[in-house]
Amino acid sequence: MGLILVGSVIATGYMDDQRRKREDAPPASGAVVTLSPDLQPGLKVYEEFSCAVCHGPAGKGGVHNFNAQTAQEIPALIHVADSYTKPDLIAKIQNGVPIEPKLNSNGPAPPLHMPGFKDLLTDAQMNDLVVYLISLKPKGENLGF
Ligand code: HEC
Repeated sequence: MGLILVGSVIATGYMDDQRRKREDAPPASGAVVTLSPDLQPGLKVYEEFSCAVCHGPAGKGGVHNFNAQTAQEIPALIHVADSYTKPDLIAKIQNGVPIEPKLNSNGPAPPLHMPGFKDLLTDAQMNDLVVYLISLKPKGENLGF
């Protein structure tokens, strides 16, 4: 049992590395991507309120969360534009997820959960933040479904 667990943790780590290599690949044109000025305030909120610590730089994910239902990782945020309306996204950030669902119900509680940011962000900061998050969707991405 112990060995199986270790094996799967290593395998997961390996797949993360492979995925990161793909995601970090520079755009085909080789152009340097700079963040447009209207997205800078949202990036600032994202970094100041520690979102980046859990969700990775630019929402790319890759942070482990043992026994979490979300593939034992804190979810990346690059696809929130597809899965949330703006009001739903704001509600999610305000309320958080106080108890992170377990992958294996007999296993331990996952170490990290999504905190609620209600009352911590001004309306303007929240707006800048969600505009930034929505912008993270990869340009011209073909989701294949
Ligand atoms: C302590 C770690 C931590 C911090 C800090 C954190 N989050 Fe999270 N976040 C999580 C976890 C864990 C989840 C997964 C919750 C679940 O199971 O649905 C999550 C989920 C989310 C989701 C839902 C993603 C989805 O795919 O449905 C959004 C959006 C989000 N976080 C945004 C933020 C923003 C914006 C900030 C900063 C203001 C932030 N988070 C800070 C841990 C964190």
